[in-house]
Amino acid sequence: MSSLPDLETLRSEFQSQLEKTKTLEALEAVKVAWLGRKGHLTTLLKQLPGMTLEERKNYGPLYNSLKAAFETSLTDAERALKKSERSRTLEQDLLDTTLPGTPYPLGHLHPLDQVMGELVGIFRSLGFVTTDGPEIESEYYNFEALNIPDNHPARDMQDTFYLQMSRRQLPLPDLQDGQARHEPVLLRTHTSPVQVRVMEKYPPPIAIIAPGRVYRHEAVDASHSAVFHQIEGLLVDEGISFADLKGTLSHFAQAFFGPSTKTRFLPTFFPFTEPSAQMDVSCFCGGTGCRVCKNTGWLELLGSGMVNPYVLHGVKIDPEKYSGFAFGMGVERLAMLKYSVDDMRLFYENDLRFLRQF
Ligand code: PHE
Repeated sequence: MSSLPDLETLRSEFQSQLEKTKTLEALEAVKVAWLGRKGHLTTLLKQLPGMTLEERKNYGPLYNSLKAAFETSLTDAERALKKSERSRTLEQDLLDTTLPGTPYPLGHLHPLDQVMGELVGIFRSLGFVTTDGPEIESEYYNFEALNIPDNHPARDMQDTFYLQMSRRQLPLPDLQDGQARHEPVLLRTHTSPVQVRVMEKYPPPIAIIAPGRVYRHEAVDASHSAVFHQIEGLLVDEGISFADLKGTLSHFAQAFFGPSTKTRFLPTFFPFTEPSAQMDVSCFCGGTGCRVCKNTGWLELLGSGMVNPYVLHGVKIDPEKYSGFAFGMGVERLAMLKYSVDDMRLFYENDLRFLRQF
């Protein structure tokens, strides 16, 4: 048996190695060198069984306490190293507040929303109140109540998408008999049904606008879309005349397109207004004639007219006492005219190069 080592020498040898370790890897090497399978202390401990009883009694506890002390020192050293490594990375990664930030792209409203907001603003300043109605509408509100009976050719011009739904699933008033029944429903072709819904619910005076999405069975091209937006207007009170219609809509045209805008009203037909008028505005070319106005100097802007007494009668408003006017305009068309956009599809393609211009 080899001579027994001096424990104090062992301890100071271990301690000096430990003090020199600066990394976790070096620490691991020290650990293996002393406590590993072939480590210094492990080798000594393995010698215990070959010792005399006297020696074992003497060295056993000493070796074991040395081992425990080494383990504690190793754990402490490891903790200390980890801590200093962590603070070192923190220091390295420290935020440099003088660096310029990453620019965060700010969005803005879609041009159609902007135009819609502007249109609504003009009419609100005149005292009109904003309302809306369902996009899934009954045949009754979309057509019949607007004096467009079944088989009327006006329905052809506004072909749309039909759905199957029960009346209970729809925002329709209860039937007298309280029965659930299948009702032909469709995607509304215009915002005009909101006129009827409002007049059913509120007594005159009424002054509302109803912006919203409408649907038609259309082949999509530069000036047609199967989904587009309209703003409806309705004013009902005692003594409302065509002069009120002209004054209101002319004011609107000037507020939207500029004070030098001229308007003209041409007779046309809508089943729910009588008389009906198409309002044109003077073209931006100043009447000299251009591609947009097809050399006429005028742009067709919207449909309007005096609310048909049949419609008033249907919603139990006395046509002898009350009269009103209504109008409906396509938001896309107005936006195209205002911003010289020559293809409606640009509004729906979400190409940022287009949208960023607004
Ligand atoms: N609803 C009609 C359309 O979509 C427009 C309109 C509204 C005409 C109100 C007259 C009165 O073409």
